[in-house]
Amino acid sequence: MNIRDFLSQKISSAMQAAGIPAEYSANVAPAKKVGFGDYQANGAMAAAKAMKSNPRAIAQTIIDQLDLDRIADKIEIAGPGFINIHLSDEWLSQVLGNTINTQQLGMEKAIEQTIVVDYSSPNLAKEMHVGHLRSSIIGDALVRTLEFQGHNVIRQNHVGDWGTQFGMLIAELEEHIEKSESEDFVLQDLEVFYQRSKQHFDADEDFANRARDYVVKLQSGDEKILALWQKFRHVSLQHSEDIYQQLNVTLSAQDVRGESAYNADLPKVVSDLKQQNLAVESQGATVVFLDELADKEGNPSPVIIQKHGGGYLYATSDLAALRYRANELKADRVLYFIDARQSLHMKQVFTLAKKANFVPAAMSLEHHPFGTMMGEDGTPFKTRSGGTVKLADLLVEAVERAAALIAEKDNDLTESEQTEIARKVGIGAVKYADLSKTRTNDYIFNWNSMLSFEGNTAPYLQYAYTRIRSIFRKANIDVADLSHIIIQAPEEKALALKLLQFEETLQQVAREAMPHTLCNYLYDVASAFMRFYEACPILKDDVDPSTRLSRLGIAEITAQTLHIGLDLLGIETMEKM
Ligand code: ARG
Repeated sequence: MNIRDFLSQKISSAMQAAGIPAEYSANVAPAKKVGFGDYQANGAMAAAKAMKSNPRAIAQTIIDQLDLDRIADKIEIAGPGFINIHLSDEWLSQVLGNTINTQQLGMEKAIEQTIVVDYSSPNLAKEMHVGHLRSSIIGDALVRTLEFQGHNVIRQNHVGDWGTQFGMLIAELEEHIEKSESEDFVLQDLEVFYQRSKQHFDADEDFANRARDYVVKLQSGDEKILALWQKFRHVSLQHSEDIYQQLNVTLSAQDVRGESAYNADLPKVVSDLKQQNLAVESQGATVVFLDELADKEGNPSPVIIQKHGGGYLYATSDLAALRYRANELKADRVLYFIDARQSLHMKQVFTLAKKANFVPAAMSLEHHPFGTMMGEDGTPFKTRSGGTVKLADLLVEAVERAAALIAEKDNDLTESEQTEIARKVGIGAVKYADLSKTRTNDYIFNWNSMLSFEGNTAPYLQYAYTRIRSIFRKANIDVADLSHIIIQAPEEKALALKLLQFEETLQQVAREAMPHTLCNYLYDVASAFMRFYEACPILKDDVDPSTRLSRLGIAEITAQTLHIGLDLLGIETMEKM
């Protein structure tokens, strides 16, 4: 168990023994400032307020009941009634020592939930561009973290593979195939293909009519048209899978369940909503008016679920997807990683799904929005000529830039090692720069800062990891021999406390779906390690053997923490760089 939960339990029982009603929590957190102990319990104030009593006196009654013998050196009351806990070096040594050579650093499995994560979800008509980066990597960091905690995670790539634009694309594809060109060849560049079919559609009346006819045929299940659609879909998905692989994102073909998968349920969604008198006819369309989301003037929020001509909408397939996620996947939580601009859409879908009882009331529906990736000029990131940047091109550039930086440094790496490191550093830098920013904010994309070997960056953390690995190459000892930790110096204690906060950090990341919390944590760990390494020599001759083994133990746990933590962010590490 982690220290925070452990102390919470201890203090909660002390509070109850002191006669404080159980609804008041201990409210334990790591101390924010040095000199205020290692952990603080802030529950006395709220309890005192409700009990109309003096908070410092209440804090004292809690301390009187609190048994932290050998765990804490000192427990003191500070300010209006904070309880500051100074943990003992012996206890921390023992707790940290217990994590060595255990699975997952001794962390406990969470109480398992079924968690559906909807992420990446590009529109297949076009190639993946920078706008898809955030959803793909933030979603994947959450997937990895939740799986690590022991949850049953179901990835859902809700790709846009349906809708009117496919009529035009299929008509274009058909013409090329009739000229016996292969679909792989003509669809090499989806952007170019899309533009070409759009121009064709705008310029050629016959073509436009055929495209419209194909939309109808596609929806009625015409075999020939479906086969063309499948071809297009297949090539486009292949593009996305290539990107996932380069990005080290864990989505695979099995996780694809696009809009088309919900086709058969759409008429039922509409008829169910009508039957419940939630949907009404309005100007020929079928609409649900939600009072729950009314604007300031009291006008209800309209959700169109079927168009005048019979076509269904984005919201309709999202409702059907939620029914599937509730009834078939039996999700406890559903997490959506989608751009903040779709917030209203998500609110409407969630409100309506609950109102219509499409999902159980207890199912947690969470839209985790994110801001936009900006260029240096503070407007959305574009190519020099103002076009959208393909994700594939961005990743190639990242690896090239990393390779140039590595070649500059003097090192004894072989060419193939350099290539491998450049790939991990380049991709890692792009991902970390994004993941380390507060998700909900926009951020400015900057090559130089993300590739810097100093500061809160991927290269800095990857480098910190390789430094520890090189200590072990020199130490020439078997990690299996490490077990005993003796904390002596303050830098050792500071690092030990940080290392023991890994589980708490992951709990917070999983709850809030905020990967930057994990980034900040890993940066703190690496920085605390650097301070420890300065103050506490490991391999120098005059270090006595038991101290050396203890410090190697701390270094090993640090390396594992960095390795696991970066892996949860989808960032690779290496032995040397
Ligand atoms: N395909 C959509 C887009 O590119 C994103 C889908 C997100 N997921 C969802 N269930 N709506 O904007």
